[in-house]
Amino acid sequence: MKVQHDIVIVGGGLAGLRAAIASAERSRKLEIAIISKTYPIRCHSVCAEGGTAAVLREGDSFDLHAWDTIKGSDFLADQDAVEFFVKEIPSEILRLDNWGCPWSRTKDGRIAQRAFGGQSFNRTVFAADRTGFHEVHTLYERTLMYPNIIRYDEYFLTNLIIEDNEIRGVTAIELKSGDLILFEAKAVILATGGAGRLYGFTTYSHQVTGDGMAIAYRAGIPLKDMEFFQFHPTGLVPSGILMTEACRGEGGYLRNKYGERFMEKYAPEMMELAPRDVVSRAMWREIVEGRGIESEHGAYIALDLTHLGEERIDERLPLIRDAAKKFAGIDPVEEPIPVRPVAHYTMGGIHTNINTETQVRGLYAAGEVACVSIHGANRLGSNSTAECLVFGRVAGERAADYALKKEFRHVKSESFKKEEKKIFDDFLKKSGDENPYEIKKELTKVMDDNFWIFRNGEDMKEGVKKIRELKERYKNVEIVDKSRRFNTDLINTMEIGFMLDVAEVVAIGALMRKESRGSHYRLDYPERDDKNWLKHTLVYYNENGPIVKYIPVKITKWMPVERKY
Ligand code: FUM
Repeated sequence: MKVQHDIVIVGGGLAGLRAAIASAERSRKLEIAIISKTYPIRCHSVCAEGGTAAVLREGDSFDLHAWDTIKGSDFLADQDAVEFFVKEIPSEILRLDNWGCPWSRTKDGRIAQRAFGGQSFNRTVFAADRTGFHEVHTLYERTLMYPNIIRYDEYFLTNLIIEDNEIRGVTAIELKSGDLILFEAKAVILATGGAGRLYGFTTYSHQVTGDGMAIAYRAGIPLKDMEFFQFHPTGLVPSGILMTEACRGEGGYLRNKYGERFMEKYAPEMMELAPRDVVSRAMWREIVEGRGIESEHGAYIALDLTHLGEERIDERLPLIRDAAKKFAGIDPVEEPIPVRPVAHYTMGGIHTNINTETQVRGLYAAGEVACVSIHGANRLGSNSTAECLVFGRVAGERAADYALKKEFRHVKSESFKKEEKKIFDDFLKKSGDENPYEIKKELTKVMDDNFWIFRNGEDMKEGVKKIRELKERYKNVEIVDKSRRFNTDLINTMEIGFMLDVAEVVAIGALMRKESRGSHYRLDYPERDDKNWLKHTLVYYNENGPIVKYIPVKITKWMPVERKY
């Protein structure tokens, strides 16, 4: 089956929804499709808790926000992109306010802001600790106003159709029927999110498997800076559920088994509110050096909110209290929460320029799937939802302008037939003796073991070898469910294939980068090396293994200095 829309947006999360509204506002004549693997209101963006950073008050400034972001990035962020980003986000906050987002307020009715890690001003706007949830619902409701936004919920992207280096559309499986649908489009926006399920201990929802990244990569578009994976300091033990940085922003402490606020050794000024790479490393060091608190689920660190009092916790952190009670049997009003650093964010992604354009004409990427790059080697908390809003809008506007000038060019029918055959004849029907879920389990283990917070060359070399073995074994998987309708076995197995490709890119980038910067910390190269490594990694797909290239970082006015907090 074939459908045609001017713009196809893949991904119904924050960036995708924001892009759709921006395109629709550009012109009511454009037909805009949102294809989403889950219902938009079940997208992973709803899991964002703590807030969205924006300059709103006197005392703060664009330069301060930019500086915090660039220093936080360990100087790998592109400074022109950061400068643009910080100027654009305040109007997005006000726009969402007008559209009904229930931001938390100060007593005098202004939009409230809280402290977050690495900030020199309390600039995180929030809606209690359910910020992503409220932002998504606000945008989702807004999309319903536009008759020219058409949704395809529960459709799974399988490929991009590119001819003459120009996007022609995408293919996606409709889960309900199991049919492959060809979506012809003049412009396509990828907003499919990150790849956090590569890791076993993770804050990510199960659907975040790097599909968009892998599909773009296989189509010849490079992935940028994928070795930089963020470990958030506070994942609930044992589930990994995010215990928002807002816990510390509201005044929470981290304590080791002696009850010490150990951050004073690692970041004497900012303490628990140092950037995530610094805090996660400190926590991990406490744990590996035997100062964690032992439990049946391994050693952990105590996140202590008890001094904040019930009223403040209920007002500012209601979800945290609820989740800690339900998933760890702990009431944070009474007892500290057991936490450990947890895989949380993919700093890298599809290489785009500041206008969200990829190297393929008419193909854009925004949000976590993309790497502009404003986060460099370490993202500051609450800059991610902000990025989705700003660059989602940019992508929507750019795609609309592009589509308005373009004529439809039909996809050659062989491309579609080839894709159908590849999925349903060659892949679904084939027999083999490998269980895809076993491969996934082994993959997440190798990522947890060999590409975690403290890395070293020997372990990473082993890790690359293991990932390549898993890729070989994947060729021999068998999908047990051979039916077409709602075949989640097929979808999951395809996702695992995507994850393997993305994992290889992460692993190769990490092994080759012989320095420590931001989240990428090597015990065998513990220093940042600006002389040799102040550059972005680009990894290109090749049948015989990834090809790695480097491009310079854009510096406008902030020269790298030592990071101290
Ligand atoms: O801790 C948090 O609430 C996470 C926020 C973020 O990743 O930006």
